[in-house]
Amino acid sequence: MDRLVISGGGALTGEVAVSGAKNATLPILCAALLTGEPVQLDNVPRLRDVATMVKLLRQIGVQVEHSGDRVELSAHALDRLEAPYDLVKTMRASILVLGPLLARFGEARVSLPGGCAIGPRPVDQHIKGLQAMGAAIEIEQGYIIARAQRLRGARIVTDMVTVTGTENLMMAAVLAEGQTILENAAREPEIVDLAEALVGMGAKISGAGTDCISIEGVPRLHGTRHRVMPDRIETGTFLCAVAATGGEVFVRGARPATLDAVVEKLREAGAALEAGPDWIRIRVAKTRGNGRLKPVSVRTSEYPAFPTDMQAQFMALNSIAHGTSRVTETIFENRFMHVAELNRLGADIEIEGITAIVNGVESLSGASVMATDLRASAGLVIGALIAEGDTTIDRIYHLDRGYEQMEKKLAGLGARIRRVASGEGR
Ligand code: EPU
Repeated sequence: MDRLVISGGGALTGEVAVSGAKNATLPILCAALLTGEPVQLDNVPRLRDVATMVKLLRQIGVQVEHSGDRVELSAHALDRLEAPYDLVKTMRASILVLGPLLARFGEARVSLPGGCAIGPRPVDQHIKGLQAMGAAIEIEQGYIIARAQRLRGARIVTDMVTVTGTENLMMAAVLAEGQTILENAAREPEIVDLAEALVGMGAKISGAGTDCISIEGVPRLHGTRHRVMPDRIETGTFLCAVAATGGEVFVRGARPATLDAVVEKLREAGAALEAGPDWIRIRVAKTRGNGRLKPVSVRTSEYPAFPTDMQAQFMALNSIAHGTSRVTETIFENRFMHVAELNRLGADIEIEGITAIVNGVESLSGASVMATDLRASAGLVIGALIAEGDTTIDRIYHLDRGYEQMEKKLAGLGARIRRVASGEGR
């Protein structure tokens, strides 16, 4: 297993380019299942999760050509309407093939994901919504077996706001008979990006980006070309890293309009930010003692509020602020695994229920730590960039799931960071 070795304590300066969004790419790849015609996607990030989704789609029978940041898919003849456990257990987003397969072929067999490092994460809302559209669903030997002649439009109110739930139901509804209304829908920008790709395929969708999405089913969809939106969480991660280390960085190819809550909190902390339509510049003086950043309390919630996917990174930043802050996680039950690891770097963080109390310290110091999930890893990278001395981060396959060439991009900003391949240097 690869590790990252980071010698922290230096400021970050220069320019970095943002990749395409993981959480937009994954559903849009699945949308290609809805048509027999070719779908071309650009700005697709090179990530482990994208490779896993491509592997799953190939197993289903989709032809996939992947070159550079372009992926071309053709789902004209499929032979296996199934997502097997061995892939679903490594990536929960595999559940996103359920809606499209059922809508186009009238059947699908998808493994139930089971629990994961950040919480139990059930998929009951996906199932309930498809049942409301007329699907017959059984659970057999850990698999969701879904059947329907043709799905029927329905009014669906989910019990909670769910991102992939909204995406799955939206993809099912585009080929259903009649109108579907999704109430209490997620408003994340990735939902809007998926809706744009589907509209490009001939779907009739309005209201994406609001909590009420209306879909008028059509008998068939056609091919399209779509450019995936920039990754707002990768963008936010770089901004937090610069805020934590000090320095001045120009982030190119971003979409600042999707990051208001994060930018606002960084300004509260004392960072200077400027933005254009597709760039953000951040400037933070590198200081210690009384000139340190202000502690900023955050509470994660659904978009447009502060994203759970930025919680660990912001906690790393707060760990060296001048005072105490509270970081409250309301989306996932178990998303504080980075706390014990940040404390190994010298942070002073206590957990009280769903809140982490972060008592800012003057500096962190290098240690060996372990990544537990994707965004926790990003928080540890920021902790390591702050820390004086060497930090080794183990199990960085978590990081590779969702960050394209993180260590190269950070090295380009002057970070002293290197990847040590498994077996090397032990
Ligand atoms: N929930 C249910 N039942 C359901 C669906 C969700 O109880 O049927 C609960 C979940 O357990 C959770 C809450 O509802 O407590 C919200 O979960 P949601 O369904 O919105 O999460 P998700 O769709 O599984 C996506 C992202 C996550 C991101 C969350 C929240 C993708 C592929 N994943 O997950 O991204 O944290 O939304 O914004 O889009 C990441 O990139 O690191 C990541 C975990």
